[in-house]
Amino acid sequence: MINDESTLLYNALKYEEGHERRTQHILKVYSLTKLIGEQENISNEDMIILNASAILHDICIKYCKEKYSGDASLENQKMEAPYIVEKFLKETNYTPSYIPKIIELVKKHHDYDNINSTLLQILIEADLIINYFETENKEKTLKLIKNIFKTETGKNIFNSFKLEEI
Ligand SMILES: [Fe+2]
Repeated sequence: MINDESTLLYNALKYEEGHERRTQHILKVYSLTKLIGEQENISNEDMIILNASAILHDICIKYCKEKYSGDASLENQKMEAPYIVEKFLKETNYTPSYIPKIIELVKKHHDYDNINSTLLQILIEADLIINYFETENKEKTLKLIKNIFKTETGKNIFNSFKLEEI
């Protein structure tokens, strides 16, 4: 099967070996990314790219922690993303031309100052909504959300929680 998203998700969950926070984070960001993408009428091809980027967006954390004695800095994650993301995507038969696009989304998902595509915008919005629930520092995340959010769906979802108005 080509672009085998369900096996990609399965493999990513297995890779985390039951790590509670990261396992739940993958599932939450994946489902919210998919929801925003579909509501924003993203094309089928772009949805494949977007969903894969959501599944893999934090996949480098575990790899970097193991390789660099616990150091999963953003710098290390960006450095390792091409290798690890490509490995997961090749195992699940992703279309070769999609792979660099997915790697780029994974690498840039913390580059809040340079959001240069709709897909990156959606991935970042989904991640920030989930981060808002997970973080201790809600003030900082709320500030980012207020500054960065662009899609109607992302704004509406956040506002529908009735926590803060953006
Ligand atoms: Fe994340």
